[in-house]
Amino acid sequence: MKSRFDPVTMTFFLLFSSGYFAESQVNWTFTLPDSIEASVHSTVEIPCTFSAPEEPGNFLLTRYMIDRYGGNDHQQVYNSNDSRKVSEEYRGRTTLIGHGNNCTLRITDVTYTAWYYPEIRGGSCKLSKEQKPVRINVTGCLNRPSCSEWSFTFPSTIKALTDSCVFIPCTVTHPDKATDFDIFMFLRNPTGDTVFYNFTTSISGRSKCSLTINNIQRTRQYYPGVNRVINAYNLEGRVCTVTVSDIPPRPVITGAENLKESEAINITCAVTHSCSLRPPMLQWNVPNNTTVTHIDLTQGYWEVQSKILYFPSSKNNDRSLECSATFRSGQTSVQKVTLQVEVESRTSVAIIIIIAGVAGLLLLVLFVIIYKRKKICHTSDSNGVGAGNCILFQYRQ
Ligand SMILES: *[C@@H]1O[C@H](CO)[C@@H](O)[C@H](O)[C@H]1NC(C)=O
Ligand SMILES: *[C@@H]1O[C@H](CO)[C@@H](O)[C@H](O)[C@H]1NC(C)=O
Ligand SMILES: *[C@@H]1O[C@H](CO)[C@@H](O)[C@H](O)[C@H]1NC(C)=O
Ligand SMILES: *[C@@H]1O[C@H](CO)[C@@H](O)[C@H](O)[C@H]1NC(C)=O
Repeated sequence: MKSRFDPVTMTFFLLFSSGYFAESQVNWTFTLPDSIEASVHSTVEIPCTFSAPEEPGNFLLTRYMIDRYGGNDHQQVYNSNDSRKVSEEYRGRTTLIGHGNNCTLRITDVTYTAWYYPEIRGGSCKLSKEQKPVRINVTGCLNRPSCSEWSFTFPSTIKALTDSCVFIPCTVTHPDKATDFDIFMFLRNPTGDTVFYNFTTSISGRSKCSLTINNIQRTRQYYPGVNRVINAYNLEGRVCTVTVSDIPPRPVITGAENLKESEAINITCAVTHSCSLRPPMLQWNVPNNTTVTHIDLTQGYWEVQSKILYFPSSKNNDRSLECSATFRSGQTSVQKVTLQVEVESRTSVAIIIIIAGVAGLLLLVLFVIIYKRKKICHTSDSNGVGAGNCILFQYRQ
């Protein structure tokens, strides 16, 4: 392209590495949007302007594209000087539509989400890595009938403990005619998603994309897929967010309510976790035989349960029953309950005695009243006063 950019040469690359440009210099700046939304097969324009130093001298203005999968390769997507250097994938699809310091680039027929950024090289000047790449979000199904046959099943969030592990359960449903494909787990990155894991070498069955990640440190987002177009993020906008926290979940004690003297009862302590390979250990503060059970709660969670057969005694009333969970990554958490043993037999005897006593007393009072009334009526009859009050008694007599 011979334009006002002479002797400026502009190049666009498809970049597979965000760490490609290590050394750099400032004082050239590009103004670019953070991201652009586009639908599949549409034409996108990346608005771009740049400012150069007063005496720029000879320089090369290059522009790069970072592929979403990262890696260690790069590709030119535009080159104003030599179009043969542009990758086959982008040849003929990119045009510089800006003039002067306007470096707006047009890309036709975009098919997948990717990151692009420009670069200036020349003389002592190099502008590159500080430049935030432009993200082009490509949405929609590339080839509707075929990509709707692909689907990926996995949870959208899993909470994990720092330094522990996480298991992302995942399955791939693929069209019958798709016989030869690779499966990847991609990691989302601000500057370009990367292949996090390639299942092809480790998994024989082609429908599984479950992945265990050990020694988890940071909250990150992952998604399965078979390539840059057919993947859960591109097709469905879905990722699995693995949230990493330092605060372990608390165990839960059940069965310690309604304790009755000498009536054996099973008390259970349970805690959920994300690391089935190294589950947390549960410990009681009472010496007892424990039964430990592991339950797959699905969606990336497990529960470990410890059950004890407990013989309640009112001697232990107000004591604390404790269950602590020790996670293999080092964290611990404790749950405490205060024991309250109901002394059933003595209580009921006491209640019966009290009820009988009260009933007896009432009966006695009633008899006394009746007796007194009778007496009063007899006396009032004799002296002719208050006869009306004694009709009942007189009648009965
Ligand atoms: C950019 O250039 C200006 C003047 O040309 C200079 O004052 C400034 O220090 C430069 N900035 C950097 C970060 O080099
Ligand atoms: C593109 O996708 C990213 C990540 O999901 C989001 O943060 C950004 O806002 C999107 N950009 C547009 C223009 O929709
Ligand atoms: C850059 O050029 C494009 C295409 O001619 C135009 O649409 C855009 O407004 C220009 N941008 C600036 C900042 O001048
Ligand atoms: C406690 O659980 C075991 C099974 O683990 C069961 O056999 C037993 O009957 C239970 N005991 C009580 C008192 O519920």
